[in-house]
Amino acid sequence: MAGGGLAPSNGKVKHYNGRVTSFVIVTCVIAATGGLIFGYDIGVSGGVTSMDEFLEKFFPSVYQQEKTASGSKNQWCQFDSQMLTSFTSSLYVAGLISTYFASMVTQAFGRKSSMLFGGAAFLLGSAINGVAMNVAMLIIGRILLGVGVGFANQAVPLYLSEMAPPQLRGALNMGFQMATTIGIFVAGLVNYGTGKLHAGYGWRISVALAAVPALIMTLGAIALPDTPNSLVERGLRDQAKATLQKIRGTDDVEAELQDMIEASEEAKKVSDPWSSILRPEHRPHLVMAIAIPMFQQLTGINVIMFYAPVLFKTIGFGDSASLMSAVISGLVNVFATTVSIATVDKFGRRVLFLEGGIQMVVSQVAVGAILGTFFGDAGTGKLSPGLANLVLALICVYVAAFAWSWGPLGWLVPSEIFPLNIRSAGQSIVVGVNFFFTFVIAQLFLMALCHLKSGLFHLFAAFVVVMTLFVVFLVPETKGVPIEEMSLVWKNHWFWKKYMLDDHITPSEHRRED
Ligand code: BGC
Repeated sequence: MAGGGLAPSNGKVKHYNGRVTSFVIVTCVIAATGGLIFGYDIGVSGGVTSMDEFLEKFFPSVYQQEKTASGSKNQWCQFDSQMLTSFTSSLYVAGLISTYFASMVTQAFGRKSSMLFGGAAFLLGSAINGVAMNVAMLIIGRILLGVGVGFANQAVPLYLSEMAPPQLRGALNMGFQMATTIGIFVAGLVNYGTGKLHAGYGWRISVALAAVPALIMTLGAIALPDTPNSLVERGLRDQAKATLQKIRGTDDVEAELQDMIEASEEAKKVSDPWSSILRPEHRPHLVMAIAIPMFQQLTGINVIMFYAPVLFKTIGFGDSASLMSAVISGLVNVFATTVSIATVDKFGRRVLFLEGGIQMVVSQVAVGAILGTFFGDAGTGKLSPGLANLVLALICVYVAAFAWSWGPLGWLVPSEIFPLNIRSAGQSIVVGVNFFFTFVIAQLFLMALCHLKSGLFHLFAAFVVVMTLFVVFLVPETKGVPIEEMSLVWKNHWFWKKYMLDDHITPSEHRRED
């Protein structure tokens, strides 16, 4: 198949000495908790912004609009407020700016330092949000949360991909996405509980509890060793060797260490990773760093993650049923992620991308058709309970597809393709692009729902068709390929090979080719 260019030249995947140790597993599980803060925030925002007390306190005009819209006005438009969406999306703007600084910290001081800093910023942000008295405090808190995820999402996926042995890199890296989905799910549960309080402070509990995952991540980061790749990059070879011996469970780590040293020497020839990433030999990496996170967001997943309660209210569920449905889709999200963890290193990344893409298109087209036919674009209709449940079920089919494809792969694939010299910078492009499109979707969704109505689901389906074709033709399989040997994957790809000249292959990769 066109994009199938399977791995290194001679078709064989390189194996280093060592085994999968319990130390590396525990280390990766701890690091993956960085996904918790990301997920908790995604899950909490949607619920909080549908709580009456929260709206009444901070967004009284939206509250009024919601009250008067029931019954008569167009339901598609009842939540359309730029102020309300800026609450959700301000975090992503902060995240996308801070991730640039995170790339410098991650490269100069190690992956661990960025994780620590990210956890601490998030902790502070959740405290400010919990006691917020006005919109300004709310936004300042969210900016700090944004700095937290900007650093965490930059460092954690890299950390996991570097620590993991190649044959298990997919599964271990996906711990990050797993933690993200658990964070989203727990936040949904918390919202469901606090939404029932009606004492005026339920939302405070929801936002302040973000401190718990932040604490877990911060303490976790203190306990972790840095990655051998980062230690080599910072000239700490002895420490790198000792860490490598520990995580691979053998004294003989020379081959892998040597590859890291060579990669790091290559990296030293380049003074500025930002101009290096623009060079022709890094074109495939740059394209992936932009396209993969952009497409991940254009699946429309965050419409469901941020606004599921709002969406379900729109189609006629009651307050409590709406929060409950967010819990249900959250649970599907967690379980479907395990499917990906179990299969990604066996069947590869491309199979999951392709199957997930097809499943998403089918469910999105069906949801759009049902809403268009039965709810009507005038937005005055009402779905029967049976149909509303069918929409919920279809949304779960869609969430499951995302959760075993673009969700985890959207973080895994970029984190494993960059050579060491541009890895940190590349990953911050990934986070920046991801957050930019998350921001755009968060900011535009309520307005788009108001204007495109059920057609919005068809628009997202069209995006998924495009991205699936992108995978078919342009995304190579990276399963099992050692991270410091990834250039060979591009060199063997029908399209990308024209960018990979011989002198851009490291000595160890040359040896593999012969
Ligand atoms: C995405 C988030 C999304 C989440 C849903 C992540 O991979 O980056 O934007 O909300 O998956 O599980």
